[in-house]
Amino acid sequence: LTFRYVENDGTPDNNMWLISLKNTISKQLPNMPKEYIARLVMDRRHRSCAIVAKSGTVLGGITYRPFHAQGFGEIAFCAVTAMEQVKGFGTRLMNHTKTYARERDHLTHFLTYADNNAVGYFAKQGFTKEITLERKRWVGWIKDYDGGTLMECVINPKLPYTD
Ligand code: ACO
Repeated sequence: LTFRYVENDGTPDNNMWLISLKNTISKQLPNMPKEYIARLVMDRRHRSCAIVAKSGTVLGGITYRPFHAQGFGEIAFCAVTAMEQVKGFGTRLMNHTKTYARERDHLTHFLTYADNNAVGYFAKQGFTKEITLERKRWVGWIKDYDGGTLMECVINPKLPYTD
């Protein structure tokens, strides 16, 4: 099992990973329009971290958009395939994504609109409903999304999230 950092750089390999990831996310978020998921996952400004099984199957992933000047990233999607949920993959996935976001994108915070059923998961990953990021750094930069709870996670500059 590997955690693979993927962005749409036009290479056939990354394209293939992103298409597989988009399909995995769509299955887990049936209420989200497929076209919307495809658009964001394939968008060149977004980055993804995919969980890839030995067989090459994408078991889940996180897609986020870094706002470099603002220092934060917005997590658009986070999903683990149904068969593999509650086995700890979601936690490992988030830890790898934090490491990537810190090292490659120099982000200090993640923001996300968590679905109500996923608030518990995000809380366990260090997300809070209290937003400490200065309002002027994020208001107007991320899209307001009805039916979700805005949550924030501070990315520690030193903590080894992954071993
Ligand atoms: N509610 C409350 N707690 C949860 C939930 C949940 N829905 N899902 C997992 N947890 C808890 C687990 O019990 C576990 O707790 P523990 O550490 O005390 O044992 C901890 O969170 C981590 O669990 P993992 O096994 O690492 O998480 P998992 O691999 O199941 O992934 C995820 C969690 C991504 C939410 C998965 O269940 C999923 O894909 N769900 C369907 C799609 C979804 O709702 N995605 C989030 C939408 S919001 C967004 O994308 C911005």
